[in-house]
Amino acid sequence: MKFKKLEKFPEGFLWGASSSAYQIEGAWDEDGKGMSTQDLPKQNVDGWVDWSKITDFKVASDQYHRYKEDIALMAEMGFKAYRFSIAWTRIIPDGNGAINKKGIQHYHDVIDELLKHGIEPVITMYHFDLPLALEQQGGWTNRDLIVPAFVKYAKVLFKEYGHKVKYWLTINEQNMVAMVGDILGMVSSDPKNRWKHMANLNHNMLLAQSYAFIYLHKMCPNAKIGPAPNICVYYPKSCNPEDFTAAKNAQSLLHWYYLDIAVRGKYNNIVWKFLKDNDALPEIRKDDFKVFKAGKPDFIAFNYYASGTAEKDEGDAVITHGDQHSMFDVPGLYKGAENEYLGKTNYGWAKDPIGFRNTFRELYDRYQLPLLVTENGLGTQDTLTADEKIHDDYRIEYLENHIKEMRNAISDGVEILGYCPWSAVDLVSTHQGITKRYGFVYVNRDEFDLKDLRRIRKDSFYWYQNVIKNNGNNIE
Ligand code: BG6
Repeated sequence: MKFKKLEKFPEGFLWGASSSAYQIEGAWDEDGKGMSTQDLPKQNVDGWVDWSKITDFKVASDQYHRYKEDIALMAEMGFKAYRFSIAWTRIIPDGNGAINKKGIQHYHDVIDELLKHGIEPVITMYHFDLPLALEQQGGWTNRDLIVPAFVKYAKVLFKEYGHKVKYWLTINEQNMVAMVGDILGMVSSDPKNRWKHMANLNHNMLLAQSYAFIYLHKMCPNAKIGPAPNICVYYPKSCNPEDFTAAKNAQSLLHWYYLDIAVRGKYNNIVWKFLKDNDALPEIRKDDFKVFKAGKPDFIAFNYYASGTAEKDEGDAVITHGDQHSMFDVPGLYKGAENEYLGKTNYGWAKDPIGFRNTFRELYDRYQLPLLVTENGLGTQDTLTADEKIHDDYRIEYLENHIKEMRNAISDGVEILGYCPWSAVDLVSTHQGITKRYGFVYVNRDEFDLKDLRRIRKDSFYWYQNVIKNNGNNIE
């Protein structure tokens, strides 16, 4: 589809970038912080993660101590927003007990620093770092523990920061936690009862999320809140109608399962039948659907790195493994497939900017809510030259192609609030170390040598600064 005229990015568009607490902050045991699941030594996952070769998260990019410097760099790029997560373990160290004043103060300081520079804080309440004390009691599958604990945590956040923070996100990539939680360093899994375990975990998270929607609206009527899953289009491997059904199945299981409850208060029918067939329906109590119906999001935030491709399961699909943005099979529903039309990143993720536009279109068509991009980006090695430069033209190319397609989506009539790619400053990847870099700002450290952690502007820093200066309208 060719437009006669491209539409412009709207005034007030939230240009920025993203991060998560455990991947960037460091200071893992400082100022009263409790342990999270990410602070534990991790299990290797065959063929995917060998933790002996990569760093842990103890120091990360040390943003806990360097937040002022990092925010000054964001301000220099012209950021209008910064999407970051709060570590539950800094606020309530054991997840459910006493409040830690120093943790509360730290995020006041970060938020105030952002506001001082005119940068809108966009807060993720929970990003892969469950308090260990909760995990040890069953974590997200222990409903009577976890739902009230999350509600308590949510109320503390809204009371403390709700008058300063307009945009809230509940749970980062719940869909990926459910599907590839072991790779993401989450502890809880039950391989023998995989689907039952997943169904209960999801049900409890979705309930906790709906309560967060309800309480934010009650406590902070001027603030807005949304879910933050990982969403993409799925292509059928061929035009065989059975491949089309397989691609639709993948989207139901991976995406609509979550958003249908968040937005419509209903279980996706295809997923419901899949769970039923696998003897895996979640435990549902009397008022659960009232809660789902009562809690409504104001927008949908989503992360996009790659599209997916699926083909029919001819009975040969086996439970395979992938990470967040690679393909895997789900027997009975679909098999993951290669897409011959797309190139891949060095880490094997499909590069598909047009898929980005199509994801916007599909999401908007389906739910009719404003969309906020909370992640998108290229993870790869960068080289620091002798004269202290990082020529990351590959990252610029990736981001530019995606922004171009986002503008096409705006021209399609999709309402988009902002774009916060991953990541503002280099941080530690979920399972592939610090040498898989995403930032506009280089952090001078290696996997095991912390060096001086100094910040160095990459070429993409200046490029993004110019994009923001032009409100994106220089990209067409
Ligand atoms: C998203 C996560 O899935 O992908 C981030 O929300 C993550 O936490 C990002 O860092 C990139 O993936 P990775 O595995 O390279 O860190």
